Amino acid sequence: MINLSGKIALVTGSTRGIGKATAQRLAEAGASVVVTGRSEDRAGEVAKEIAQSTGAKTFAVGLDIGSRESIEGAIKRINEEMGNVDILVNNAGVNRDTLFVRMKYEDWDEIIRVNLTGTFLVTQLVVKGMLKKRWGRIINMSSVVAFIGNVGQANYSSAKAGLVGFTKTLAKELAPRNITVNAIAPGFIETDMTENLPEEIKQGFLSQIPMNRFGKAEDVANVVLFLASELSGYITGEVIHVNGGLF
Ligand SMILES: NC(=O)c1ccc[n+]([C@@H]2O[C@H](COP(=O)([O-])OP(=O)(O)OC[C@H]3O[C@@H](n4cnc5c(N)ncnc54)[C@H](OP(=O)(O)O)[C@@H]3O)[C@@H](O)[C@H]2O)c1
Repeated sequence: MINLSGKIALVTGSTRGIGKATAQRLAEAGASVVVTGRSEDRAGEVAKEIAQSTGAKTFAVGLDIGSRESIEGAIKRINEEMGNVDILVNNAGVNRDTLFVRMKYEDWDEIIRVNLTGTFLVTQLVVKGMLKKRWGRIINMSSVVAFIGNVGQANYSSAKAGLVGFTKTLAKELAPRNITVNAIAPGFIETDMTENLPEEIKQGFLSQIPMNRFGKAEDVANVVLFLASELSGYITGEVIHVNGGLF
């Protein structure tokens, strides 16, 4: 039912986890997809895999969201190779957890730079093409911790809460140009990011999830697909929670 043929999608951090599942879903719906990660080789492998399984056009580029230079170079190459992006999924993100009293300036700075400033930089470059086309979809990956907090994540939860304000403001500024801007706040999703958490922490989260299971990357990717499509055309400035009832 959702047909994204003719659309160009950029998913940051799509070599693994939620980003990879999202790139796959958008390609299945017919979009041409740009796969990115810090390693262009790794992104290339994933892009090839997605192209083979879906028949969609894919393009891989190395994009380190923590580096302004890398972002500028990558977006220039994407514009030259694929054209202007229609669907931007700001997914790349990292955490560096430690209790607030022990948190070093570097722990704070890196997490804000990668998760929040990187999204600002990518979006500002990509939105120019959307403004010209008078159509666009921007989807920002926030987190449940932006709403409930989490011990050891003062840096990460602040960055993810910042993305909510960013989403709501851009939604108002860009709505007259037919560009929607929404956020997704995943709960506990089984990916590399959560794999290495101590078992007691995982069980602690599980006991708070009414659906009694952790989320899968596809649970989030399905919502991205909806927000990227015409079906969600009158929704902007929203945060969709994907957490099995946790919050
Ligand atoms: N998993 C969860 O429970 C959960 C919950 C709430 C929110 N989220 C958010 O959802 C998003 C995806 O998380 P995930 O669980 O799928 O994480 P993941 O499995 O760790 O994957 C992270 C992705 O981001 C990329 N990445 C990391 N640092 C990067 C950088 N500096 N520049 C560019 N790309 C970078 C990685 O690619 P390379 O390593 O190849 O560079 C990878 O593709 C993140 O924003 C995360 O904060 C996750």
